[in-house]
Amino acid sequence: MASTKLKEGGHVYEAEMDAHERASRDEIMALQRQRLAWSLQHAYDNVAHYRKAFDKAGVHPSDFRELSDLAKFPFTVKTDLRDNYPFNMFAVPREKLVRVHASSGTTGKPIVVGYTQRDIETWSDVMARSIRAAGGRTGMIIHNAYGYGLFTGGLGVHYGAEKLGCTVVPISGGMTERQVQLINDFRPDIITVTPSYMLAILDEFKRQKLDPRQCSLKVGIFGAEPWTNAMRGEIEDAFDMDATDIYGLSEVIGPGVAQECIETKDGLHIWEDHFYPEVIDPETGAVLPDGEKGELVFTSLTKEAFPVIRYRTRDLTRLLPGTARPGMRRMEKVTGRSDDMIILRGVNLFPTQIEEVLLATDWCGGHFILELTREGRMDELTIIAEARSESWDGRGLVDHADRISTHIKNTIGISSRVQVVAPATLERSLGKAKRLYDKRPKD
Ligand code: DLL
Repeated sequence: MASTKLKEGGHVYEAEMDAHERASRDEIMALQRQRLAWSLQHAYDNVAHYRKAFDKAGVHPSDFRELSDLAKFPFTVKTDLRDNYPFNMFAVPREKLVRVHASSGTTGKPIVVGYTQRDIETWSDVMARSIRAAGGRTGMIIHNAYGYGLFTGGLGVHYGAEKLGCTVVPISGGMTERQVQLINDFRPDIITVTPSYMLAILDEFKRQKLDPRQCSLKVGIFGAEPWTNAMRGEIEDAFDMDATDIYGLSEVIGPGVAQECIETKDGLHIWEDHFYPEVIDPETGAVLPDGEKGELVFTSLTKEAFPVIRYRTRDLTRLLPGTARPGMRRMEKVTGRSDDMIILRGVNLFPTQIEEVLLATDWCGGHFILELTREGRMDELTIIAEARSESWDGRGLVDHADRISTHIKNTIGISSRVQVVAPATLERSLGKAKRLYDKRPKD
């Protein structure tokens, strides 16, 4: 349930919006045509990879006239960025970069992204707009618990919050006891953090016997990992706050590519004046009509240092018409990336589906991991779920575990073993949660 702590629900009045937020769909599309033409030419002229890829596909930036012409241009994938490590995807001389970030990646070399001074301005603008859409206003205090460093979360939110005129507490991730102390002492209005780490902060409130509903936080801006509406309910109830979703990725700019508006909480408005979205069939690469689910692809419209053309995010979602910002389309909450999909005996499964089932119980607060093992030739899934302290029986809530396993079999169609463990057993992430532990032998 949404909180009543925020006056007038955080709704942004038209007079508070910037010109592009107020623009009509037609105006946004006209702007996109113009900006896409620039971005394609800029990438072609200044990045050897794009010149080669366009030439190979037999397309030239001058072939772009209508938005639908974008489909003629080749996709860019993560390995293209890796192959050009560290600095070969930049479209400006290295001296023009004022900052680099890098995404860790699980294996091999990181992906390095860079920003000119103007790119930092653009990023700050879309982040400030995101915070405002979430209910943030000039003068508020923001407790920023996204990690600072090479990860884009901390500094991305930081610059946007300053631009909006907020007071930023740059606490970064970790030191959970200190997080709770500063929330109590500084009385922030907003918290920015991954939803999984918000649960760790909640645990700490309880450990210190503090009532989280009495804390000053009115709004949470949660992202950097998939999370469900069930998790939104859990966090909103626990803290008596509004929980909104923020999306972004390093390759496209960082946080602030899309943000849920607090008054509607109906998916995330994509800031389409800077980022052009497409949804494609991940198998064939065909562009899907709005409303159909597939892989999200982005082309940057204004970025100078690190333009991306048709970048395949691997995130699965669909595009929907704008609501709170009618000129800009929404993306449905991302429930998973193609990389996180588990295929177990022919059935597809995302960790968020398990999150939803567990949070529908009264005994699990959302801490869980999934383990894949192989017994003989069969892959086995074990769900290790942590009990809430008030529900824990000291033995493993065996009846509840059996019931969940049956429910998952009946609804998702997957056989799994469910093991309920004592409160505070599972390791807490400081940023993005690691849900899946694949212990199958590598063959
Ligand atoms: O996670 C940027 C970010 C920071 C977004 C803080 C929001 C808040 P990367 O580390 O490059 O950048 O990871 C990007 O994280 O492709 C998605 O798979 C996932 N992701 C990000 N936001 C969401 C979200 C940052 N709201 C990758 N819902 C993306 C689901 C998300 N997944």
